[in-house]
Amino acid sequence: MTPADEHQLFDYDVYAAGDAVEMTRLLGEVFSRRDPPAVAVGVTPPEFEAFVGLFCPKAAEEGLTIVARRPGTRELVGALLTEDSASALPDGMDRLSPKFEPIFDILGQLDVEYRAGRTLRTGESLHLFLLGVAESVAGQGVAQHLVSRCLEHGARKGYRLAVTEATNRTSQHIFRKRGFVERVRRSYGDHRFDGQAVFASIAEHGGPILMDKRLTL
Ligand SMILES: CC(C)(COP(=O)(O)OP(=O)(O)OC[C@H]1O[C@@H](n2cnc3c(N)ncnc32)[C@H](O)[C@@H]1OP(=O)(O)O)[C@@H](O)C(=O)NCCC(=O)NCCS
Repeated sequence: MTPADEHQLFDYDVYAAGDAVEMTRLLGEVFSRRDPPAVAVGVTPPEFEAFVGLFCPKAAEEGLTIVARRPGTRELVGALLTEDSASALPDGMDRLSPKFEPIFDILGQLDVEYRAGRTLRTGESLHLFLLGVAESVAGQGVAQHLVSRCLEHGARKGYRLAVTEATNRTSQHIFRKRGFVERVRRSYGDHRFDGQAVFASIAEHGGPILMDKRLTL
């Protein structure tokens, strides 16, 4: 058992439809302010919230997303938005800010390379999509605990693989520590979108890495 598993300072629950407003606000805030690619292209909190909002109905339906709350106040302080890797993109992606396009481009390249020749069936692979933790509880193991809970819960539902695109060194460290293995990588410094080095300002973060992990019960 790791220190992150031992601490029970927070409650970890499967996401329900009633968590939508709080989760959307939290992920909109933390990603727009602290996730390097979102910062590089200048996505605002409301723009990121609009993105997260598209995935909330699927999160409630699939029951694979985990949220963390403070036990007393029930404040939502962390979330790991997770979907079935075989599920379709939600409607409305075309109405999002065009600022997302370079992010979808670089992450899409990882997925295309990884999925080449593979057929994904529903119920097989978890996609750990958006991991975010409030700054007020940073560094207390909440993210690591969210990942552990998500994997245990998914494995109990029959999932045998987990996949994520980790966009920064902290999340890459967290997923490696939980047994994820690097499969495909891109470089922020080298990436070009419409001929522009859109991620040049975050070159020191290396690049996004697609990682996976086989799940066992
Ligand atoms: C990334 C994020 C989820 C981490 O949440 P958290 O609850 O503070 O993370 P934890 O406390 O569980 O774990 C942090 C780990 O990263 C390590 N870490 C911190 N900064 C690091 C860095 N720059 N490089 C490598 N590891 C780092 C910590 O030492 C700790 O590991 P340890 O327990 O082995 O010491 C949070 O910072 C966040 O929401 N960021 C904005 C959104 C984002 O970037 N999400 C990930 C996108 S894939």
